[in-house]
Amino acid sequence: MTQKKIAVFVGSLRKESFNRKMAKVLTALAPESLMLEIIEIGGLPLYDQDYDDEGTPPSVWTVFRECVKSFDGVLFVTPEYNRSVPGVLKNALDVGSRPYGQSVWGGRPGAVVSVSPGAIGGFGANHHLRQSLVFLDVPTMQQPEAYIGGAAKLFDVNGNITNETTREFLRRFMEAFAAWVTKNSKKP
Ligand SMILES: Cc1cc2nc3c(=O)[nH]c(=O)nc-3n(C[C@H](O)[C@H](O)[C@H](O)COP(=O)(O)O)c2cc1C
Repeated sequence: MTQKKIAVFVGSLRKESFNRKMAKVLTALAPESLMLEIIEIGGLPLYDQDYDDEGTPPSVWTVFRECVKSFDGVLFVTPEYNRSVPGVLKNALDVGSRPYGQSVWGGRPGAVVSVSPGAIGGFGANHHLRQSLVFLDVPTMQQPEAYIGGAAKLFDVNGNITNETTREFLRRFMEAFAAWVTKNSKKP
């Protein structure tokens, strides 16, 4: 069995982020066919096309782009900010999408999980992110969807999921994602 490498992007920078906790839970629940790694995006300078046009991209952009290219798939775990995608995550998408014609996203199978203390589980962010992923040619898993609400009550002090039903749903979500990656992966 060839293990598929999945880059995980968390749309929150705060230390106690529910989404970061969720990313760690998903890493632990993933089947053996997947190897997940969180890729940090908080240090990426805001995208400015002048740097690419002048051939002087910040080195952290270049490192980030090469890093994403080395993965087989992508998993986004994000909060909702003002009914949309947090700027830090959108910036990472933008940085990876340029220079024009050299996007690192295309063809890498993906999935989206949104997590919020609110009742609708970040639905708006989840779907705005999917809009960008359509354009970026990331084949994004449609089912199961993952809008995780009530996040403030979801984790114990060690970051474990306290609710067995949710835990089982997340395990099945990762199984489905593993199958999705195998089916849609460019690499054998
Ligand atoms: C700028 C800002 C905008 C927010 N907008 C929304 C929103 O539209 N919908 C929502 O459910 N929660 C919203 N929230 C609350 C976040 O869901 C909450 O802070 C959550 O804990 C952030 O995710 P994290 O725990 O991973 O940092 C917002 C928070 C911030 C800081």
